[in-house]
Amino acid sequence: DEAIDFFGANQAGIVTPAQDRLHFAAFDVLTEDRDDLVDLLKAWTAAAARMCGGDYAGPGGAVGGDYYGPPEDTGEAQGLPASGLTLTIGFGPSLFTTADGAGRFGIADRRPEALQPLPGFPLDDLDPAISGGDLCVQACANDPQVAVHAIRNLSRIGFGTVGVRWSQLGFGRTSSTSRTQATPRNLMGFKDGTANLKAEETEALDEHLWVAADDGPAWLAGGSYMVTRRIRMMVETWDRTSLAEQEAIFGRDKSEGAPLGSAAEFDEPDFDATEGGQPVIPELAHVRLAHPSNHDGARMLRRGYSFVDGTDDLGRLDAGLFFIAYQRDPRRAFIPVQESLAANDVLNEYIKHVSSGLFACPPGVADADDWWGRTLF
Ligand code: HEM
Repeated sequence: DEAIDFFGANQAGIVTPAQDRLHFAAFDVLTEDRDDLVDLLKAWTAAAARMCGGDYAGPGGAVGGDYYGPPEDTGEAQGLPASGLTLTIGFGPSLFTTADGAGRFGIADRRPEALQPLPGFPLDDLDPAISGGDLCVQACANDPQVAVHAIRNLSRIGFGTVGVRWSQLGFGRTSSTSRTQATPRNLMGFKDGTANLKAEETEALDEHLWVAADDGPAWLAGGSYMVTRRIRMMVETWDRTSLAEQEAIFGRDKSEGAPLGSAAEFDEPDFDATEGGQPVIPELAHVRLAHPSNHDGARMLRRGYSFVDGTDDLGRLDAGLFFIAYQRDPRRAFIPVQESLAANDVLNEYIKHVSSGLFACPPGVADADDWWGRTLF
């Protein structure tokens, strides 16, 4: 129920121990006016700081303002605690330049080299209507009503300046981002987040998560790149697959989450072990393909959520994993890892990537005078 500090050197909602619920929204900027955009970012920052502290979006509250105007808060979170709410903003490639290369808002020359739309991967089945966006906000909280309230109020404040392009609700975190958390399970029933980058690994966070001052551009120092992928799971097909096959696909056992051939969850996988001439962890197992030892040591901080958005017209659950990963440079982490997974992962028989996004998340907001994006504008 506690409030998580909104202010700090890095944005909250990245190494913050993953909360249980997500409401993620991507926005398009409707104005061409830079000052309007800057004013919105300032207004958003003030509202975000208030809401993360467990307060109303605006000082007038839900009923205490002008009786003859719309309330400064929509009201559905009245009486609810802060619930660990974090709000994390990201800037998409299209905020800086249009698809035909024209600059926007006078910041084209500040676009990070790494902030290109992600390349196409084999088997991608992306729907552009639920991909990309000029801005995004990740709202995480332990109460879904609190996360939804936050996104709703930001979009209310942005009316006319920004419009929601797409959004995603998530329940059940699919990763742990701190050693204080037990590893949760994804909808395939496997522990997810075991080998994740954790908040306590401070040196590894500097190496793999936070953009350093000399990485460039300077405005992004202390920030991170966020990749989002809505990954549909063919759960009905998965549920007809043998346990032996399921474990071989991930390279871990389903009960304990230990690497195949080992006893305990946090044992290091032994990729050289063989039995009867065959590798104990199959050559194309997910954990082998994604492992840092196959990607020049690259790691990322995964922070995804499960989703079930009803059923499709064949009566199958529209369910899966809304994958979110943070990293210092997507060209060294997500992109090469996904290239390898998309080409080889046996898991591909059971999943489909249907939405994609890449966002540069600026550093944290220092204090009440600072605002989201100040270093960029
Ligand atoms: C590990 C599930 C997609 C990157 C794992 C593990 C599971 C899992 C169960 C083992 C436990 C752990 O260490 O967390 C899934 C499922 C996916 C999916 C169900 C899709 C629906 C992806 C994608 C990427 C990715 C798209 C990145 C491109 C990783 C990495 C590890 C991992 C880096 C840790 C490997 C290690 O160091 O041992 N995943 N994953 N996963 N996954 Fe995925």
